[in-house]
Amino acid sequence: MALSTSMEKAMNDQINAEFESAYLYLGMAAWLESANFPGFAQWMRAQAQEETEHAMKFFEHIVERGGTPTLTAIKAPPKSWQSPLAAFQASYKHEQYISGRINKLMDMAVKAKDYASQSLLQWFIDEQVEEEASVDEIVQKLKMVKGSAGSLLMFDHKLGKRGKE
Ligand code: FEO
Repeated sequence: MALSTSMEKAMNDQINAEFESAYLYLGMAAWLESANFPGFAQWMRAQAQEETEHAMKFFEHIVERGGTPTLTAIKAPPKSWQSPLAAFQASYKHEQYISGRINKLMDMAVKAKDYASQSLLQWFIDEQVEEEASVDEIVQKLKMVKGSAGSLLMFDHKLGKRGKE
């Protein structure tokens, strides 16, 4: 079944949202590097990479269903945050926003009886549960180590292992 025009448009918008996520996390990585938190920066780099993969999943789905991926301008991320905690809190908020978008796409696919899109979107729904949980865990830990420079540096070192194990 070919992708409907409305679903094609919504998925193209989601390609942009996923690249915007990648750009946001890459922006956070840049700021965290400049703030001397190479571990947190590494974690954000890996996160940016995953977001690019998410965008490509929508890209390929559109192609496979006979549609045309349409690329649009990506919003520039902020240049700095108040603290690593503020950056990860912003990341958590952003993931909640993305989960809301995915849920809306699923609503559309269900209404249209577009089972192939539902299958793809179910993967994203599960992925968002994981993404929100992992960022929230980091936020909670950053709140715990607040005020302890030693613990913060140890945590930075720990998160720097992401993508390197
Ligand atoms: Fe692709 Fe973090 O949502």
